[in-house]
Order: sequence, then C-alpha cells, then structure tokens
Amino acid sequence: GHSGAGARLLLLYGLVFDAGSSHTSLFVYEWDSDKENDTAVVSQTLSCDVQGQGISSYANNPPEAGNSLRECLHKALMAVPAEKQRDVPAYLGATAGMRLLSAADPQVLAEVAKTMQEYPVAFKGAQILSGEEEGAYGWITINYLLDSFTKVGQGWNGEWRAANIFGALDLGGASTQITFVPKGSVMSQNKSPELTLYGYSYNIYTHSYLCYGQNEMLKRLAKELIVESFPSTRVQHPCYPKGYNETVSVSSFRASPCTDGSDPRLPRGDINVTLEGSGNASGCRAAIRKLFNFSACGQSQECTFDGVYQPPLRGQFIAFSAFYYNFKFLNLTEGQPLAVVRQAIEELCTRSWEDLSSSYPKENPKRLPKYCANTNYILILLLHAYKFNETSWNNIIFQMKVGSADAGWTLGYMLNLTNMIPAEAPASLKGHMPSLWAAAITFIILTLILGLAALLLLLWA
Ligand SMILES: *[C@@H]1O[C@H](CO)[C@@H](O)[C@H](O)[C@H]1NC(C)=O
Ligand SMILES: *[C@@H]1O[C@H](CO)[C@@H](O)[C@H](O)[C@H]1NC(C)=O
Ligand SMILES: *[C@@H]1O[C@H](CO)[C@@H](O)[C@H](O)[C@H]1NC(C)=O
Ligand SMILES: *[C@@H]1O[C@H](CO)[C@@H](O)[C@H](O)[C@H]1NC(C)=O
Ligand SMILES: *[C@@H]1O[C@H](CO)[C@@H](O)[C@H](O)[C@H]1NC(C)=O
Ligand SMILES: *[C@@H]1O[C@H](CO)[C@@H](O)[C@H](O)[C@H]1NC(C)=O
Ligand SMILES: *[C@@H]1O[C@H](CO)[C@@H](O)[C@H](O)[C@H]1NC(C)=O
Ligand SMILES: *[C@@H]1O[C@H](CO)[C@@H](O)[C@H](O)[C@H]1NC(C)=O
Repeated sequence: GHSGAGARLLLLYGLVFDAGSSHTSLFVYEWDSDKENDTAVVSQTLSCDVQGQGISSYANNPPEAGNSLRECLHKALMAVPAEKQRDVPAYLGATAGMRLLSAADPQVLAEVAKTMQEYPVAFKGAQILSGEEEGAYGWITINYLLDSFTKVGQGWNGEWRAANIFGALDLGGASTQITFVPKGSVMSQNKSPELTLYGYSYNIYTHSYLCYGQNEMLKRLAKELIVESFPSTRVQHPCYPKGYNETVSVSSFRASPCTDGSDPRLPRGDINVTLEGSGNASGCRAAIRKLFNFSACGQSQECTFDGVYQPPLRGQFIAFSAFYYNFKFLNLTEGQPLAVVRQAIEELCTRSWEDLSSSYPKENPKRLPKYCANTNYILILLLHAYKFNETSWNNIIFQMKVGSADAGWTLGYMLNLTNMIPAEAPASLKGHMPSLWAAAITFIILTLILGLAALLLLLWA
C-alpha cells in the first residue's frame, strides 16, 4: 500500500506492546482510513522483540521495565511518517505474568506508561488484560484476519455462520487460553462475553488457565519431582534428555504463586537440587498428567480438569504462539495424523543431550532441552483436558501468522479499543451479505443440474 503520495495520506497506524510473562513484543499495524470498518484490512508493519525478560521481572527495579521498551519504540517511530506519529494510538497490554504479580504491578505499569509518554505518539494506556479478554481478543484477531466474520456471509442463517468461525488456542509462558463458539448457548455461570460484530452476535466460550503456560508448567513439574524424591538433591527428570542437568534452588518455588510457596512438602531453607535428565517419554507423560486434576471433573463430560466447565468443541481451531513454536520443532509437514505426531514426540524424548545439541547447533540451548516436556504437555492439554480426539485433531491448524500479521491478542485489542469493529455490518459490506438472491441462484442451478441429469438418464435408457 505505499504506492504514491495520495495513497500514503490515507494510511493510519497503531502500536501495541504485548507484555507477556517471559518477554515483551511490539507490533505496529497500518490500515487505510477509507476502509477501516471492513475486515482484514489491517496489516502488520513491524514487530520488535524487546531485549531481556518480561516486565514482571522488573518488580524490584520498575524504571528498568520502562527503559527496556525504548529500543523498540525507536524502531516503531522509524516505521511511521513523522507527520503521523502524534496520531498513532499506542497501547501496552500485560498478560499472565503481571496477573501473577499483583502486589508490585502499579509501579511497573506506571513506569512503562511514563516511558511511552515520552515518545511522540498518542499513548492510550497500559493495563493488565484479564484471561477472558486475552482469549477473546486472540479469537477476534484470527477471525478478523481470516475475514471469517464477513466472508461466511454466504451462510443463510446465524447457526451456519457460527460454524465457520475459527476457534483460538493460545499458549503463553504463564497461561493458556481456549476460545470458540459452542453449539447452542454457553452455560450461564460462565462469564464469557456475547460479542456483536459486523451485524452478528456471537456467544463465545473462553477460558484462561493461569499457571498452565509452558514455563509455569515446567516449574510446577520440577517442584513435584523434587518434592516426591525429597530429601534427595539429585532428582531424575523424565522429560529432560539424558546427559542434561539443571540446578534449581528450592527457594525459587517459594517466590512463584504457581508453585505454591505455602506447600508444606517444600523443603525448608535454601537447598539446590540437580535435575538429571532421564529421557523417559512414558515417565514424562505420567509426570505431566499429575499436574492436572482430572478427577475433579467427576463424571461430567463438559469439564476439562480442576472442575472447569467447557462445552463440547466445535469447528476448526488455529493453534498459535507456543503451540506453534513447539510443533514447528518437530519438523512435521502439515496435517499429520495424531499417530505420526506421537511417534515424533516419542523419538524426540529419547534423544540424548549430546545428540540434540550437536544436531541443532542453531537452536537456543535454553529451549532445546524443553521440547520433549512442552510437546507432551501440549498433547495432554489438547487431548485429555480439552478433549480433542483422533478425528477432531485434524481440525487443529498450527500456525504462527495469519496473512501478514502474527496471531495473538494484540490486533483484536487494538481493533476494539479504536472502535474499528462495528456492531452493525458496515455499508461497504452490506452488498456482499447473504441475500435471498444467493439462495435463489443456487436453487435455480440445482434445478437445472437435476433436470439435465434426468434428461440424460431418459436418453440413456
Ligand atoms: C466507520 O464506522 C463508524 C461508526 O460506525 C463511522 O462513524 C465511520 O464514519 C465509519 N468509517 C468509514 C470509513 O466508513
Ligand atoms: C550431569 O550429572 C551427572 C551425574 O552427576 C554427570 O555424570 C554428568 O556429567 C552431568 N552432565 C553434565 C552435562 O553436566
Ligand atoms: C546454589 O547455587 C548457587 C549458584 O548456582 C550458589 O550461588 C548458591 O550458593 C547455592 N546454594 C546452596 C545452598 O548451595
Ligand atoms: C520410565 O518411567 C516409567 C514411569 O515412571 C517407569 O515405570 C519406567 O521404569 C521408566 N523407564 C526407564 C527405562 O527408566
Ligand atoms: C482434585 O480435586 C478434588 C475435588 O476438588 C479434590 O478432592 C482432590 O484433593 C484434588 N486432588 C489433588 C491431587 O489435588
Ligand atoms: C526437516 O525435515 C526435512 C525433511 O522432511 C529434512 O530435510 C530437514 O533436514 C529437517 N530439518 C531438521 C532441522 O531436522
Ligand atoms: C470426536 O469428538 C467429536 C466431537 O468433537 C465427536 O463427534 C466424535 O464422535 C469423536 N470421535 C471419536 C472417534 O471419538
Ligand atoms: C470492546 O470494547 C467495548 C467498548 O468499546 C466493550 O464493551 C467490549 O466488551 C469490548 N470487547 C471485548 C471482547 O472485550
């Protein structure tokens, strides 16, 4: 869209920081002001990874949380023409890492806001998203980018339409979200929102599981393994590769809300424990399963674990963020059946650390030993908790981007806060909306085909 000065005048920009638990990313979006009420018109101009850890890690030094954003803010300004910078709405949304750090958050958020206000953009606020917002905005992002809110306008009723909306599966460092449009209505006690977008209402189900992001899952797993073998300070870790060791201090579990510092089974004092990889795929699965309380669901089918309600799955899902990154490591071609995926994970888990580190010299050495745990975790979450099965597994599409933009909550968040998602179908789209015409034409064509077939049969006989 940079063709000529006339076209450039119509471009608008927006900027969103995704302050996750383990790192922060910045996204710059652009769109044509003429079409702002249509779907799939916003594209991603820039993404920038903030150096260092997530903002919640600066709880003891909040000004540094603000400073960490400067490099990316600078890059963002380079991507926006100078005369437009003051009109660029700029947001920072923080997710599960900050939800966990409730005590210190006012200072950290105040510092990031202070830094953003120093730049010539229209700063609109820094806030912590709830898990439900995170889920809903991710769902809005992917369906907006896939144009599914308006493209499926060929449907003749709302029920058909809802069936062609994609569900969203998001896995972060500290939480994971599932969001979809179930059949019928969502049980009333669920606080999932009803959203009216482009002339249709969607009764979505969304749930965010705090402490079930991949990093918190790994911490909880380590804690359980250590507590079970106490007082040993050398503990076998079935999900880590043979030959890989990791030293953790027991006091780190006390500092994190997900590992329940008040657990009486935690050894007292500052003990270091060495986790020794044993590369045992079945042992790994068994240990991960214990992180979920499946029995808390009793006999209920509409329940995932820990007593959480979920209606039956429906439709296709896009699995992004860490769902995508971990699966990408398995190096499988798209659409593999579950049995092939299981086999690949099994093989991965039995490879030694020596073998892995020499086979993947370019891979981040902090991530490499964790793929076995992460991929097993993902399968247990999707199959046992969410209840995908051998058949519905094929409805999951692992994808990082949709079109030009990353799948995630940031775009949906910006669209909503800038009022770019109208409740009514915009005038420019009404011409494409389902009409009796479409039905009539299909009917006429079908009639013609049937007539022709009958004629042929007659002639043949
Ligand atoms: C988009 O919708 C809003 C409110 O519905 C309206 O005020 C605005 O003029 C629309 N913009 C365009 C470009 O159609
Ligand atoms: C891990 O610990 C074991 C047992 O102490 C030791 O034999 C091995 O050399 C260690 N491996 C590494 C990579 O440090
Ligand atoms: C634990 O290990 C760290 C470095 O890995 C060391 O500084 C600390 O003294 C150790 N603590 C104990 C109790 O051994
Ligand atoms: C792997 O773990 C399982 C379950 O914990 C255990 O029964 C089995 O003996 C282990 N296998 C090896 C080779 O250690
Ligand atoms: C699982 O949940 C049930 C019901 O809430 C509870 O009684 C049980 O103690 C839980 N089990 C574990 C291991 O936490
Ligand atoms: C991924 O798989 C392809 C074949 O499907 C292979 O050529 C390639 O080397 C693999 N990459 C890695 C990193 O293993
Ligand atoms: C898989 O789950 C779907 C619902 O999501 C259900 O209709 C189907 O019968 C299940 N298939 C098998 C093989 O269990
Ligand atoms: C989007 O913003 C409106 C207010 O403009 C709010 O009522 C609505 O709940 C928001 N949508 C979501 C998904 O949070």
